Formats: sequence, C-alpha cells, structure tokens
Amino acid sequence: MLAIEGGRPVREKPIVARPVVYDPDLMKEIEEILRSGVLVSTHGKWVRAFEQELASFVGVKFAYATTSGTTALHLALKSIGVGPGDEVITTPFTFAASATSILHANAVPIFADIDRETLNLDPASVEGKITDRTKAVVVVHLAGYPAEMDQFMKLAERYGLYVVEDVAQALGAEFRGRKTGSFGHISAFSFYATKHITGGEGGAVATDVAAYAERANLIRAHGETDKYWYEVLGYNYRMTELQGLILYHQLKKFDEFQRIREKYVKTLLDELAPLDGDLLVAIKPRPYVKHSWHLVQLLLSVERLRRPRDFVVEALRREGIGNVFVAYPTPLYRTPLFKNLEGHGRGCPWTCPYYGRKVAYERLPNAEWAAERVVSLLVLPNLTPEDAVDTAAAFKKVLYELRR
Ligand SMILES: Cc1ncc(COP(=O)(O)O)c(C=O)c1O
Repeated sequence: MLAIEGGRPVREKPIVARPVVYDPDLMKEIEEILRSGVLVSTHGKWVRAFEQELASFVGVKFAYATTSGTTALHLALKSIGVGPGDEVITTPFTFAASATSILHANAVPIFADIDRETLNLDPASVEGKITDRTKAVVVVHLAGYPAEMDQFMKLAERYGLYVVEDVAQALGAEFRGRKTGSFGHISAFSFYATKHITGGEGGAVATDVAAYAERANLIRAHGETDKYWYEVLGYNYRMTELQGLILYHQLKKFDEFQRIREKYVKTLLDELAPLDGDLLVAIKPRPYVKHSWHLVQLLLSVERLRRPRDFVVEALRREGIGNVFVAYPTPLYRTPLFKNLEGHGRGCPWTCPYYGRKVAYERLPNAEWAAERVVSLLVLPNLTPEDAVDTAAAFKKVLYELRR
C-alpha cells in the first residue's frame, strides 16, 4: 500500500538533499577573517581569489562575484547594454530570475519554446521570435543540461544579438568539450544553497571581453569611478569575504562533488530503466554534452496514470523521497507577473514609450507539455547510491500502483 494511503513508506528516514559545506580546514581561515574584521571584498583577498579560480575553471578571462544569480543576470544584461526599448528572448521553462532580470534591466522578455528532449530553449523557436528590437538571448542550461550553444552563437552572429548564458544550474557542464559559461558574450552563475557549489547565497558574471568585464565591475559597485564620483547607474552587488572564502574551497571540491553526483545519477537511471520509456522518460544527455546534474528531470507518462503529476509527487514525498519536487509547474508567461504586465509599476517596461509595442504572451506547446509531466530530483553531494536505489524503488511502487 502506498504511504500516502496509509502504507509503510519506502524510507522511514526521509532522504534529504543538502549541500556539503563543513570543512575543518576552513575554520582557521574563518577565524582569521573574523579576527581581522575585514569582511568586505574591497579590502580582503578571498572574493578576488575565488573570482580568479572561477574564471580559470570556466575558461574565460574575467569573473566578478555578486550577491546572487539574480543580480549576476541583471549585471550581465546591463554590462552588454540591454535597456529600455529592447527585447530579450528567453525560455519560460526556468526559474523566474532568467526572465525577471530582463525586467530589472528595463527590457521586455519574449518567450520562445523549448525542446522536448532537453527541456532547453529550442534554437528554431528563438529564431522565430527575433524582431528588429531583439537585443539579446538569455540561454539557460536547465538542470545542468548544456543548451545547443553552437546554434545559439550562429543565430547571434547572423542577427547581431548578444548571448547571455544563464549557468545558474550548470556549473561545470560541457558542450562539445567546452565549459558552459564560456560561449556567450557574458554569463551568470548562482551559488545559492541548492547549486553545484554554494556560499549560502552568491553569484558571478564571467566574460572574455574586457569592456563587458569593466562595465560589470563598475555597475556592481555604484557606478563609482572615483571617490564619490558616479559615472553610471550602479548597485551594490558585492559578495562578502566569508562567502568568497567558502566558495573558493567549494570550487576546489567541485570534481569530488561531481563524482558523488554522477554515482547517484547513474545508479538512479539504471534502477529506473524498467520504467523508462514506459511510465516515464528520463531526460538523458546527448553524446556531445556533459551534463552536470543539478537536477534529474523525469517526464511522467501522465496519460497512462490514474492520478495527475502532483499526486505522484506527493505520493513520492510520503514514501520518504525528500528531494523530489517540480521544476517547473507553470511556464513563466502564465504567472500573474506576465499576465498583469505591472512590472516596475504603471506597466513599465511594457508601456515604455521607447518600446511602443504591445505584448500578449501566448502559450507555447512544448513548455506546456513539459510543465504538466515533469518531476525533478534535486542532486546534492550528500546523496548516496543507496538513496538512488530507494528513490527508484519509490518510483516503481507509486507508478505501478497508479498505472491505468
Ligand atoms: C536558472 C536560474 N537562473 C537564475 C537563478 C537565480 O539565482 P539566485 O537564486 O542565486 O538569485 C536561479 C536560481 O535559483 C536559476 O535556477
């Protein structure tokens, strides 16, 4: 009997995915920072050290740390000059910040559809959305699955567009042997608690272009070029030294964390094989990409089940699978933010006179299809192959029971 109907759960002690941050080696350095009283990056060394490590890891010349992935995206868009009157194309099947950062930059997000095999933006759909107002594309590498970067860079060249990579979920992923975050004009990373490496909160922009890097560094700190002299509109998006220190050490452990992730995912997909292609379809990497497994994305065969996806997810939770959730249940254009078109107030940026057009967001068939059937498993480096075996057992128990 299913746990949700009063049966015994697969796991008495639920699986909880959490980041692995504690490291005794860190304690001396944390104490040093605290004793010195230098907690700010403007006077310390750790944020700078982390930025250099990150740039070299990604394979670009410049990286600047920020307070979050959201501020990194905003900074990236501002650094390439996105602003009033511009359209920026992105996916609706993502976390809000991929699109809200476009609004923060006072530009209008335009949604293109996704590919059912990867759940990433479909380059053909993006091409169909390009207008004379399109300035950039925010390409999201969803769940750790690298987007089709050669096609996006070709589109960018043909139409004179910028590419901003949203690497929040895909640190260390590779497309044809090259790291995500090294293809676009500029890229944005997140170090939130669920990400590949974490500082609690945190983000970064990375680029190979000195002019964008310089602008990012300027806008990150008030647009101040000299003491109390403000050249452009800036913000305070600086990271603290404690975050810099933690992230520096987290990045050093990236390979170790990935091995743990890969073991968990391999075991999980092997164990799910009897269901795969029948009651669900697991999103699997194409041969020319290296997936970095922020999430395992599974698409339920909802037509073959007696209950909807949300019931299945709740049933899995009751079986003790604590890292199961839905990324994402609603394409962004169906949320009130993009229905009401309020934005900054008084309809800005949609009603901005520099824009002068009307947007009504339409439903995109593949995004709708994916949102109705996707089930996600958060992958973090505390998970074990035994957790994967139990997770697959819970899927089998629930899906066989609910099969039509
Ligand atoms: C695809 C994507 N973009 C951007 C962000 C924003 O990052 P943060 O939460 O660090 O602001 C996230 C984070 O959750 C994300 O998943």
